Amino acid sequence: MIDARHVTKRYGDTLVVDGVSLTLPQRGITSIIGPNGAGKSTLLSMMARLTGMDAGAVTIDGLDVVTTPSEVLARRLAILRQDNHMTARLTVRDLVAFGRYPYSRGRLTPADEAHVTRSLDYMNLGDLAGRFLDELSGGQRQRAFVAMVLCQDTDYVLLDEPLNNLDLKHAAAMMRLWRDACRDFGKTVVIVLHDINFASWYSDHIVAMRDGRICRQGPPDDIIATDSLRDIYGMEIAVHQIEDRRICLFYD
Ligand SMILES: Nc1ncnc2c1ncn2[C@@H]1O[C@H](COP(=O)(O)OP(=O)(O)OP(=O)(O)O)[C@@H](O)[C@H]1O
Ligand SMILES: [Mg+2]
Repeated sequence: MIDARHVTKRYGDTLVVDGVSLTLPQRGITSIIGPNGAGKSTLLSMMARLTGMDAGAVTIDGLDVVTTPSEVLARRLAILRQDNHMTARLTVRDLVAFGRYPYSRGRLTPADEAHVTRSLDYMNLGDLAGRFLDELSGGQRQRAFVAMVLCQDTDYVLLDEPLNNLDLKHAAAMMRLWRDACRDFGKTVVIVLHDINFASWYSDHIVAMRDGRICRQGPPDDIIATDSLRDIYGMEIAVHQIEDRRICLFYD
């Protein structure tokens, strides 16, 4: 279980995450939604210890993320950041193989290699495995980073806007992949999303942030509603029922 208690982050005088307490439901997809600058990435990044917190604590299965050794944490939790910068000239396969580092320490066993191949195939990257990252399109590169996260094979996965740059087909495939991984392997996946229709369709639970705080959380049916979305985004969003899901229209 991921549990955040009074987590706070300040930049100068500005509170960007303001004493957030949150227990994420075990197993299944939790989406984090909210306007630009709400603190979504900062919160996710503190959960994975990539950003230090000024106050509060995050535990994962009772382990404090700040004090748990990296190699222990990296076998439980993987994160895809919103902006991935790689300075080294790496092939797609090399990047994905980094996902095995917590297990292999750089010496890949045949089982690690099989993980790498499987992750490449899941992300439809088999043909591009030998390409350098700077020779890929934006969406192909995004899928390569997700394949690395997948290859780390952790119970907890944090994804910050994984649909960035993806076409419709790959975006839907990405959401299905994580939904199936939750169902088949009991994973707990937290996904920051701007597309509230993807959040509505695929989430088990939605957390909405605004101004560094959690303003709403609950099942999609509670959050994807005109009143709730007005509170979160400050705009009028029409919500329609299609099959048993809620779909939003926000064009005028
Ligand atoms: N290194 C930094 N120094 C100063 N301010 C920062 C820094 N990183 C983030 N911020 C500020 O913290 C606030 C929250 O940023 P964060 O990236 O968490 O927002 P977000 O909800 O992920 O937004 P987006 O939807 O645009 O990705 C923003 O106002 C941002 O400008
Ligand atoms: Mg962000």
